[in-house]
Amino acid sequence: MNHATRTYDDILELLPSEENPSPMVRIRRLAPLGSVIFAKLEWLNPFGSVKDRTAWEMIRQLEAAGKLGSHTAADGQTHTRGLVEPTSGNTGLSLAAIAAARGYPMRAIVPAKVPRDKKVLLRIAGAEVDVVPDALCPLPGQDEGTIALAKTYARASSHKYAMPNQYENQANAQAHIRTTGPEIWRQTQGNVSHVFVSLGTCGTASGLSKFLKEKNPAIKVLAVQPSPGHDVPGLRNTSELGASKLFDPALIDEIIEIDYELAYSTAIELCRTEGMLAGPSSGLVFEGARRFAAREPIPCGVAIFADSVFKYASTLARHIPDLAIE
Ligand SMILES: Cc1ncc(COP(=O)(O)O)c(C=O)c1O
Repeated sequence: MNHATRTYDDILELLPSEENPSPMVRIRRLAPLGSVIFAKLEWLNPFGSVKDRTAWEMIRQLEAAGKLGSHTAADGQTHTRGLVEPTSGNTGLSLAAIAAARGYPMRAIVPAKVPRDKKVLLRIAGAEVDVVPDALCPLPGQDEGTIALAKTYARASSHKYAMPNQYENQANAQAHIRTTGPEIWRQTQGNVSHVFVSLGTCGTASGLSKFLKEKNPAIKVLAVQPSPGHDVPGLRNTSELGASKLFDPALIDEIIEIDYELAYSTAIELCRTEGMLAGPSSGLVFEGARRFAAREPIPCGVAIFADSVFKYASTLARHIPDLAIE
């Protein structure tokens, strides 16, 4: 691998790290005067979202424990153990692509409400897809639904499936302790003052906060959540976070709630004003950062832009009437 010339032997060498960080780009026009806000563009990771980090960390750890790939079962037969995971899309896509690169099978258990394009993308990346009636983002702690079905597969067919379980797996937060945190620290030369994140599994919020507050306890970690009843793919309101093992309120300085419709309209604003083709969760996070900056200046803020707008054209057209077209 050669990061200087960007030539690689294997797609997995493109995964982000301190030596190969996702870019941080300053938001020039939409950031309030007196505040500096950088967008960390996670869609430039090889499989298109912040979840490349989580997926890779979970797979690395399963590989290290000898739980993936070829193995001989008690019946003397050789099997290839792959992955089963409940996912609202992005983690599944990253897992499926990494599994393809490694030669593992993958089964994704997806809530019915997830945008159709994301389900098709999972199939394109080689995953088998089961669609289950469930909340938009799989709800931990429910007896039925995506998480329970994935657990059933992992239990009943353990020769075929290992379940990374991003909702409970500390590797999810560790991915950000190992990569995103050190990247931000280096990219801002230790000057980062505020970090803005959204909440799904809370791996990003918890991992980043642990790493950055250890470097400098004065760094503020602000979580931005959509108002209740939202339909922002990948995200949760804290009222839905009850059983998420990675959610630790002590690691978050403040939760800023934003009307969920602004996730869509602010994403469009970022596209049209900054040329940043940001998805709805990035729109929401930036809206939270902008709201915060109206209260007090942000000397060096970093907003995690988890994925791009490309998967959400029809979702956006539903929310923004002037986008509708025949
Ligand atoms: C688009 C998008 N934004 C934000 C998040 C939240 O990240 P985390 O799960 O680390 O809290 C997710 C998680 O699935 C996501 O898909």
